[in-house]
Amino acid sequence: MCGIVGYIGTQAATEILLAGLEKLEYRGYDSAGIATVWEGETHCVRAKGKLHNLRSKLEQIEIPAQIGIGHTRWATHGKPEEYNAHPHMDTAKRIAVVQNGIVENYRELREDLKQKGHVFVSETDTEVIPHLIAEFLKNSSSSDFLDAIRQAVNHLEGAFAIAVISADYPDELIVVRQQAPLVIGFGQGEFFCASDTPAIVAHTRAVLPLENGEIARLTPLGVEIYNFAGDRLKKQPRLLNFSSTMVEKQGFKHFMLKEIHEQPGVVRANLDAYFRSDVNPGESPINLGLPTELYADLEQIHILACGTSWHAALIGKYLIEQLAGISTQVHYASEYRYAPPPLTANTLIIGVTQSGETADTLAALAMEKERRQGKEPKYQARLLGITNRPESSLGHMIPHIISTLAGIEIGVAATKTFIAQLMAFYALALDLAYRRQTVAPDKITEIINSLRQIPKEIEATLESQEKLTEQLAHEFAETQDFIFLGRGINFPIALEGALKLKEISYIHAEGYPAGEMKHGPIALLDAKVPVVAIAVPGTVYEKVISNAQEAKARDSRLIGVTPVNDGEAAEIFNDLLPVSHVEELLSPILAVVPLQLLAYHIAARRGLDVDQPRNLAKSVTVE
Ligand code: AGP
Repeated sequence: MCGIVGYIGTQAATEILLAGLEKLEYRGYDSAGIATVWEGETHCVRAKGKLHNLRSKLEQIEIPAQIGIGHTRWATHGKPEEYNAHPHMDTAKRIAVVQNGIVENYRELREDLKQKGHVFVSETDTEVIPHLIAEFLKNSSSSDFLDAIRQAVNHLEGAFAIAVISADYPDELIVVRQQAPLVIGFGQGEFFCASDTPAIVAHTRAVLPLENGEIARLTPLGVEIYNFAGDRLKKQPRLLNFSSTMVEKQGFKHFMLKEIHEQPGVVRANLDAYFRSDVNPGESPINLGLPTELYADLEQIHILACGTSWHAALIGKYLIEQLAGISTQVHYASEYRYAPPPLTANTLIIGVTQSGETADTLAALAMEKERRQGKEPKYQARLLGITNRPESSLGHMIPHIISTLAGIEIGVAATKTFIAQLMAFYALALDLAYRRQTVAPDKITEIINSLRQIPKEIEATLESQEKLTEQLAHEFAETQDFIFLGRGINFPIALEGALKLKEISYIHAEGYPAGEMKHGPIALLDAKVPVVAIAVPGTVYEKVISNAQEAKARDSRLIGVTPVNDGEAAEIFNDLLPVSHVEELLSPILAVVPLQLLAYHIAARRGLDVDQPRNLAKSVTVE
């Protein structure tokens, strides 16, 4: 987590850093700070809380610097107080460092540095870095800034990206990447660095993402890149296909609402990319560009993910098992790493992460890769990534990627990236079914044709539900607990509806498989606990209706996500969130939309910060 940004060039650095931090605030907002170098001194300004607090402080100060670094923090080590805010400095207050990540061996380093006379003023792991650099500068025969930083990072354990400046090297901005994202931006006589591209796209689209174990020196004259051994590397920037309007609200009150409304377009983009319209007999209608070796003799699939991506993975499991007949297990990445199942042969491991930076997912995939290394061919790692950021760490780590084409998502609560992940799973499951001939080609074509109708069904849902969900939000804004029920392919949608509500509205919500409610959770129900049931026609429709009846018998108010014209449903439910009647297999893409809107409007009604809910960050780059 945390966002870092840096600038060196000929313009005033402060505004560039603040504007960059604004675009990175989704990564954390416990505190913010910047450090600049001017008139032979390093100047550091920090503030607790959101970026506007830092901005207010900076309005009182004239800063003529043309070099600087900035940070927006999601607290890991040490409370979210100003004294723990980045940048951190060495004892002489010459060197300033911002970090995204964790230095795992900071305790030993800190003790050692203290014994050598360094004075620490924060509780953070980051503070060891400027002191360590100062120590290497003091003791080294060379006075090369980059070299001292290189030696220092060789002593750090963990996953981190850092940016460093010093009053003693006023023309150098040094950046390091070790398992946390960092991209360099190339301008005309000016250079940028950031944890993520939105922070720099207003200035340049020529970017170079650093690889793990790389260190770069940015000066007004250019960029030099080295590895941790000190060897110079040759690298070229590439042009980013990205417009800065993608990271504007475009008239919507919040990014989350804008992103919910972008979902029809996201589905269309995935349909265009991965499903062929005109195919000759014998040709696959799915075009994921994946090699045959990945699929050959496949016996099992394991999917690793966290949060909303884990919910998408559960739907993926349903689709793969039902369409392609391959036994599939879904794991929380954070659990998998420390208790992996026994090694199985001919197994595809899929990592799902919208950001491509979730530390738990990356670590679980790395572990899986490592434990399969050197094994006989059938046990060797076959890895596939599903991500919205193919340029991310996941993209670097895994050779085969399905890119989910949702465009950048700024709201911390995932919405359009979830729908895009579902599209990736439809494509993958249908591709597997086609290749294994578990579903007749005609049926596959029929499903794809139905998928092509989904964008306009989402549009209709958005149109009809905006007012409805707003009205319901008015009634439920003060509710303390919610239960979400779904079954079969829509059980993960119940989980996702509950997650959306709790993460942005801070209302306690639980999602259950509807049939499981009578085994315990039913004890929670009374008139104060509303139940949202996803009841769409298909294999479990009658069952869900019965489970909903059980809740109603306990006085719960029932909200039904169900097709419009269903007489039975209309009678049972107190409130309806109608969705169109589509094939059961496709119903999750529609059913999730009213739940996203409900969560959004409840949170907005409660006056909460929808896009930046408390304690959360968009990409969780720590374990
Ligand atoms: C989603 O609304 C959450 N903010 C969170 O659960 C998220 O899905 C999770 O942290 C995984 O992120 P990823 O998809 O980037 O790996």
